[in-house]
Amino acid sequence: MKNTKNNPNIENILHKIKSPIYILEEAKLRRNLEILDSIQQQSGAKILLALKGFAFWSSFKMVSTYLKGITASGIYEARLGFEEFRKYNKNAEIAVFSPAFSKKEIKKLLPFANHIIFNSFSQFGRFKDLLKDSKVDIGLRVNPMYSTVTPPIYNPCIKGSRLGITPDEFTKALKIYSLDEVSGIHFHTHCEQNSDALERTLEYFEKYFGKYLKTMKWVNFGGGHHITRKDYDISKLINIIKKFKESHNNIDVYLEPGEAVGWQCGVLVGQIMDIISNDYKIAITNISAATHMPDCLEMPYTPEIRDAKIINLDTDKESKYAYRLGSPSCLAGDIIGDYAFNKELCIGDKIIIEDMIHYTIVKNNTFNGIPLPSLGILKENGKLKIVKKFAYNDYKKRNG
Ligand SMILES: Cc1ncc(COP(=O)(O)O)c(C=O)c1O
Repeated sequence: MKNTKNNPNIENILHKIKSPIYILEEAKLRRNLEILDSIQQQSGAKILLALKGFAFWSSFKMVSTYLKGITASGIYEARLGFEEFRKYNKNAEIAVFSPAFSKKEIKKLLPFANHIIFNSFSQFGRFKDLLKDSKVDIGLRVNPMYSTVTPPIYNPCIKGSRLGITPDEFTKALKIYSLDEVSGIHFHTHCEQNSDALERTLEYFEKYFGKYLKTMKWVNFGGGHHITRKDYDISKLINIIKKFKESHNNIDVYLEPGEAVGWQCGVLVGQIMDIISNDYKIAITNISAATHMPDCLEMPYTPEIRDAKIINLDTDKESKYAYRLGSPSCLAGDIIGDYAFNKELCIGDKIIIEDMIHYTIVKNNTFNGIPLPSLGILKENGKLKIVKKFAYNDYKKRNG
């Protein structure tokens, strides 16, 4: 693995940083990419970046030297991949899946998509002729009827799921449609999971859909593989892919992680704006869970903060510098969490919220007119590059 010369540290430049700002740490991103690339090398799989989780395109020059392309949820992400990823890697592949495409979208995707993946035979039937003379591979998303993802909002195999063709529907559809024009099968059933989950899922996938693979060029194992997390079993993943390829005539295997690319490769820096009391000490910050890190409320989870411990203010009576961190929005539940710090907080203090690069910038919003954090990159040489600042006009444009 490449050795990054420097060891850039946000704390060294914290005094100069204007908050709020998301800061991508280039050295950490490279580390993730090196892990992902080593999997490509050893397993023969191709890894595509899922833009839905990580679309920080100012870093795509680096990302595109490691990953084989991007996966998009629709025309905008596909176009971003075309403009900002393929620009550095002419062979970058662009895969697109949507639960339902319009004819207009399909036509717009034609010049740059490599794979268009349909969620139903009805969509396939409607648009296959449009794709007939193009270079685009047609894929079908299936539901292998097995996913252990919790909470249910993230589980694509829940009862009544709209995501993927079930085995029964697939069999029924084959009475009407042929697979002659289909090049690949896709499933996505994981979320922050280890390779044992993929191993079990493949048993179901092969049971229901293995028989259709003989005529396929590729299989896409979706995202949700938490590959760059410390406890992820990488050698198991490599073995699973190799075994799968061996038993299916060396079929191409794709993985399309988003979170694993942006995992722990940057922070959100905020500031303490006020400190009040009501049962607890409450620090109001310029960071909002609802607008800047919506997964904290949706998932939900409490983010880690540097030099602070997550606590429960109702049960933890020991910690001296214990605070509830709240947001500047009107939403009563817009609380970041309860924390014990190692010193007293003061107005103006900076806070570093960990692991805030994936599923944050792509999801943030301007509820309450709360300013969007700037975007910065902590370069491998230790210098901070400000990539984008947002202003009143960004809010205004979205609202009328
Ligand atoms: C179809 C599909 N592919 C890839 C991903 C990326 O998943 P993750 O960011 O968890 O790796 C998702 C996430 O929802 C998805 O729905």
